[in-house]
Amino acid sequence: MPRLHIIGGCRLAGTVKISGAKNSAVAVIPAALLTAAPVRLENLPNIHDIQVLVEILRFLGVKTVWENATTLLIDASKIEKTQAPYELVKKLRASYYFMGALLGRLGEADIPVPGGCDLGPRPIDQHIKGLVSLGAQVDVEHGLIKVRADKLVGAHIYLDVVSVGATINIMLAAVRAEGKTVIENAAKEPEIVDVANFLNAMGAKIRGAGTDVIRITGVKELGGANHCVIPDRIEAGTYMIAAAATGGDVAIEDIIPKHLDPIIAKLREMGITVEVGDDRLRVLGNTTPQAVDIKTFPYPGFPTDMQSLVMVLLTQAQGSSIITENVFEGRFKHVDELKRMGARIKVEGRTAIVDGRTQLSGAPVRATDLRAGAAFIIAGLIANGETIISDIHHIYRGYENICGKLTSLGAKIKEVP
Ligand code: EPZ
Repeated sequence: MPRLHIIGGCRLAGTVKISGAKNSAVAVIPAALLTAAPVRLENLPNIHDIQVLVEILRFLGVKTVWENATTLLIDASKIEKTQAPYELVKKLRASYYFMGALLGRLGEADIPVPGGCDLGPRPIDQHIKGLVSLGAQVDVEHGLIKVRADKLVGAHIYLDVVSVGATINIMLAAVRAEGKTVIENAAKEPEIVDVANFLNAMGAKIRGAGTDVIRITGVKELGGANHCVIPDRIEAGTYMIAAAATGGDVAIEDIIPKHLDPIIAKLREMGITVEVGDDRLRVLGNTTPQAVDIKTFPYPGFPTDMQSLVMVLLTQAQGSSIITENVFEGRFKHVDELKRMGARIKVEGRTAIVDGRTQLSGAPVRATDLRAGAAFIIAGLIANGETIISDIHHIYRGYENICGKLTSLGAKIKEVP
C-alpha cells in the first residue's frame, strides 16, 4: 500500500488553486439522476470519491462522459438498475444520496447501509424520517436500505438534528413530490445552497436553502442544466492552516472567501495575517500564534472538518487551547497519533486541551479518516525529521493532487510504495 513520506521543517510559499467542493460534488452527481435530460457538471474535483460515484452511475446504466478533467456530462435518460453495488457503496458514505435521487426519479432504491469515515456512530435516522414523511416505505434487511414510494407527497419535516446529509437527501426526494415540503431545522452549509441552485437550474422550486427553513414546491418534471460546483472551503482551510503552521506565505486562489469566514476569524484571533480578496486570500503565518478556544458547530460555526487541522496548529501556539467537538462523537481519533509525534493533548469527552509551544517529531502514523490524514500531513510539515503516513487512501478520497499542490509550495512530500 502506498504511503506518504514527509520531511519536516519547510516554510510553505507560493500560490495554490482550490478544486471543486467534494461535499457538493458528491450530492450533485446523484442529483443528476432526477432528470432524463442531459446535465453538465463543471469544476468537479478529481478525487477518489467522485470516481466511485461515476462508477456507480455507470453500474446503474447511466451514460457519463468526461469532457475534460473536471467536466462531466451525465445522460440519465435510461436507468437500468436501482440497486447500487455494495463494493462501491461501502467506499463512501455519501452514496446515501442515491436514496433520495432514485426515489425522486423512479420511486424506488436499494442502497447498502453506508460506509465512510470512522467518525464514531453516523446514523441516518433523520434521512429515513424525512423520506418516510414524504410517503416512502423504508425497510432495512440484509444490510440493504430498501426505499419504495408509489407517490411522494410534500410534508412538513422538522429535523431533530442539524444534518447536512439529511437536508440534502430530503431535498432530492421532495423536488418532484406532489405539493409543498418544508424542512425545518435544516443545515445551512454552502454545499446545500449549491445543490439547491443546481436543482433550481433543472426547474425545481426550492426557496430558503442556506437558512434553517427550506421550502420546496414539487414539480412534475426536471430538465437538464449546466452547473459549476463551488470551491471546496475545507480544502482551502487545509492550505490556510498549513501556511500558518509552517510560518509560510501562501496565496490561495479560486475560493469564495465568505465560506471561509469562521476559519479566517479564528486565524486572525490567533494573530495570523489573512489578506482577503474577491476570489483569493493570502495567509502570512507566524510560528508562535496565540492560543484560542475552538468550538465546532454546523455552518456558519467553525467546521468540524477543520478540527483536526486546527489542533495541529494549536500545538504550536503560545499557551493552551481548548477544542470542543460539538458535531461528531468520537472525532478525536487523530489525537493518539499526534501524541506519538510529541503533541501534548488531553481529551475529556468532547473536549481536547492542547498545550502549545510543542516541538513535534516525525513518526510513522496511520490516517483514520480524511481530515485526520490531512492533519498528519501538516504535523509532518512542521515536525523535526521524517513522517510516514499510511492508509492514505482516506486522504485521496477528498484532496485533489495534495502532494503536487504542497510540493509546488515547497513542501518535501512524496508518495512511496
Ligand atoms: C457531512 O456529513 C459531510 N460529508 C462531513 O464531511 C461533515 O463533517 C458533516 O457533514 C458535518 O458538516 C458530506 O457532505 C459527504 P451530518 P454528514 O448529517 O451529512 C448526526 C468530510 O470530511 N446525524 O451533518 O454525514 C451525525 O451523527 C466529511 O468531508 C444523526 O444523528 O453529517 C452527526 O453527529 C466528514 N442522524 C451530526 O448529525 C442522521 O440521520 C451531523 O451529521 C444524520 C446525522
